[in-house]
Amino acid sequence: MPILDLSIDELLTTTRAVRKRLDLTRPVEAEEIQQCLELAVQAPTPGSQQNWHFIVVTDPSQRGALAALYRKGAHSPGGQEDILKQIIATAADEKEAAYLTRKVDPARYLTEHLHEVPVHVIPCIEGRVENRSAAEQAARWGGIWPATWSFMLAARSRGLGTVLTTIHLDFEQEAADVLGIPYEQVMQAGLIPVAYTLGTMFKPAARKPLESVLHWDRW
Ligand SMILES: Cc1cc2nc3c(=O)[nH]c(=O)nc-3n(C[C@H](O)[C@H](O)[C@H](O)COP(=O)(O)O)c2cc1C
Repeated sequence: MPILDLSIDELLTTTRAVRKRLDLTRPVEAEEIQQCLELAVQAPTPGSQQNWHFIVVTDPSQRGALAALYRKGAHSPGGQEDILKQIIATAADEKEAAYLTRKVDPARYLTEHLHEVPVHVIPCIEGRVENRSAAEQAARWGGIWPATWSFMLAARSRGLGTVLTTIHLDFEQEAADVLGIPYEQVMQAGLIPVAYTLGTMFKPAARKPLESVLHWDRW
């Protein structure tokens, strides 16, 4: 896939959570994923420690097993489905309920179709942080998020859609068993479904005005 004609600002504003516009029928070449990861590993590392790992899952039965764990997480008490139902329940009338139902539909769609997404990428970081200080946790997780986002940007530039997901982590240990990850030594940060997008135009997201979240010099 040729690189899309996007300015850097367009790339940064239009790399969106893609779910319903993932092309589930088009295979993704291994080289494309590899190129995106070559760019991703240029991201910053804490103390020059490259403790990251990326598991690229294309095998249908492995994807099926991960998708089953994701579904289990989504339908667990307090999981995605409960949260989406709570969102819909806030509607003042039927019209708003229909609107909110449409709004949450992509999240439900992904839950039902995750096994069909041709590539799952699992970013991992060495070292578990349960019972560590907030500072240690921040440094540890900070070792994987910049590379993960770089991967998603690089994917977007090549016409690939992604969405950062974490639901399967409710069953992280089971997922580690599926993938052969040494759970005691390595944390999974999420699961990124990757597929070519249906169309390549995406709009920037609606966001709160910057003034409401920006603080100069002090809170
Ligand atoms: C840390 C994090 C975890 C997320 N986990 C999930 C997830 O498990 N499943 C999912 O469908 N989307 C997940 N998302 C995507 C958000 O739900 C998505 O960003 C949301 O739809 C809002 O879209 P926006 O980022 O364009 O505002 C996650 C996003 C972030 C940043």
